[in-house]
Amino acid sequence: MIFSKKFGLDISDNSIEVMELKKMFGKISLVSYGRTKLEGEVVKDGVIKKPEVLEKYLKEVLQQAKPKPITAKECVLSLPESKIYTHVFKMPANLDNDQIKNSLPYEAEKVIPFSTKEIFFDFKVLGKEKNQQNIFYAATEYNVIESYNQVLKKIGVKPIVFELESVSTARSLIRGKDIKSPVMVMDIGARSTNLSISYNGAIHISRIINVAGNHFTRVIAKEFGLTEEEAEKKKAKAGFDPTHEEAKIVFLLQKQFVRIIKESQEVINYFNDTTQLKVEKIILTGGSSQLPKLDEYLAENLSLPVEVGKPISGSKLKNKSVFTKQETLYANVTGLALRAASSKINNKDLNLNSIQVKKLQIVPAKTEKKQWKKIYVSAGIFILLAMFLGLLLLVIQRGMFMFKPPEFQKVNIEVDEALLEQFREGEEEKTIKQVQLPRLFISDQVQQLNVRSGPGYNFGVIDQVASGDEFDVIKEENGWYKIEISQNIEGWVVGDFVEIQ
Ligand SMILES: Nc1ncnc2c1ncn2[C@@H]1O[C@H](COP(=O)(O)OP(=O)(O)OP(=O)(O)O)[C@@H](O)[C@H]1O
Ligand SMILES: [Mg+2]
Repeated sequence: MIFSKKFGLDISDNSIEVMELKKMFGKISLVSYGRTKLEGEVVKDGVIKKPEVLEKYLKEVLQQAKPKPITAKECVLSLPESKIYTHVFKMPANLDNDQIKNSLPYEAEKVIPFSTKEIFFDFKVLGKEKNQQNIFYAATEYNVIESYNQVLKKIGVKPIVFELESVSTARSLIRGKDIKSPVMVMDIGARSTNLSISYNGAIHISRIINVAGNHFTRVIAKEFGLTEEEAEKKKAKAGFDPTHEEAKIVFLLQKQFVRIIKESQEVINYFNDTTQLKVEKIILTGGSSQLPKLDEYLAENLSLPVEVGKPISGSKLKNKSVFTKQETLYANVTGLALRAASSKINNKDLNLNSIQVKKLQIVPAKTEKKQWKKIYVSAGIFILLAMFLGLLLLVIQRGMFMFKPPEFQKVNIEVDEALLEQFREGEEEKTIKQVQLPRLFISDQVQQLNVRSGPGYNFGVIDQVASGDEFDVIKEENGWYKIEISQNIEGWVVGDFVEIQ
């Protein structure tokens, strides 16, 4: 179904977010959204640990979505960045999409850290230089996709697209003129901080740092002998505010950010150096981006403008006011829902569900198989049509009868035109080859010669011929000649006394 409803689904270790958007006459409006916290290691490091519990949570969050339950049966979901391997390959500029697709498994095998050879991947051409093109490649293990497929199947939902979290997050946060310029999105979540630089609508670099909100809370709890709940509250209050009464917490947080700032600077420098472009802005997102004054602190340390992303309030959503929660926590799911509501769901951005590789062999996707089926069927119809037309032409050529009585076989006769002319002019006698019988003359050695009834002296004499007489020779045998003496009378004369001409 082309117009079936689809929703965005973000499953992380800590929470699930769902959102359904609707596009009507080019305008997007919010249909429903929801969020639930996950308790008890249901998902750990992106791996589903308790599928049945996750099923229960998913049903609940869809049911309790506001302002109404989400009933759509198809979704676009993101995979955690830690489960995806990305790389930018440089390939000859003349390779087309199919050639890139077929050579990528071999190129990736040299750098990919996955133990299995059964993977899903997708790629995007980032741009062409003189002789080469940059290909952004993303891959995940078959088992990862399959584990999400299994759980969603149980609740009757079909995942249509598996996205990279950085791609969906960038979709909801980078807008307007920022799309055309290099922008770094810094997603500081619970478990990890994800840095990704987008330019011209595509991710160019992505890096994960295993330091984020939960770590900050644990450090504060340990340092001040607090429970994690207490530490969480203190962290959220103090943040990077230099005027905050608990300066020690601010200082502690600053220390935890040393690594994040250092790695961010490295990624920015790498991008600037390799592309000759310049990162122009940093957009913050993820729960930890709400730390007070974090934007100012990062701007000072990275010498770039920093702003906190506004996926909903900064968007053109028709009915923004329906949304009443902390929007930072919904940045990723908003990006997923935007793709789900798009009519170009399958030809935009990466879909990790699209190309499957088994032992370096690309397995055609179901949609691709369908396309081939279509091609075979159309080719078959075309051949049948051509045969029919051929037959029709034959019928027209022969008149309206399909089956004519068999014709006599034509034999090629070479006609001698000159000869034919002669016949036409009445000179046929010249053309009929006369059998020229040899002429026999009776020698002058004898006056009379006996004509016998057979070729030999033992045959009786039947007549005599005189010297100088001439006759046609009918036959020759053992030195005797058969001649026609007069009409219908034949006889034989000995060859010793005749001359033949
Ligand atoms: N107001 C706040 N101030 C500071 N930190 C906060 C605030 N609200 C939430 N957080 C932190 O944000 C983190 C959760 O963020 P988020 O929901 O983006 O994580 P996640 O996407 O589930 O995790 P991850 O991306 O690491 O897998 C928690 O560590 C929490 O302590
Ligand atoms: Mg996150």
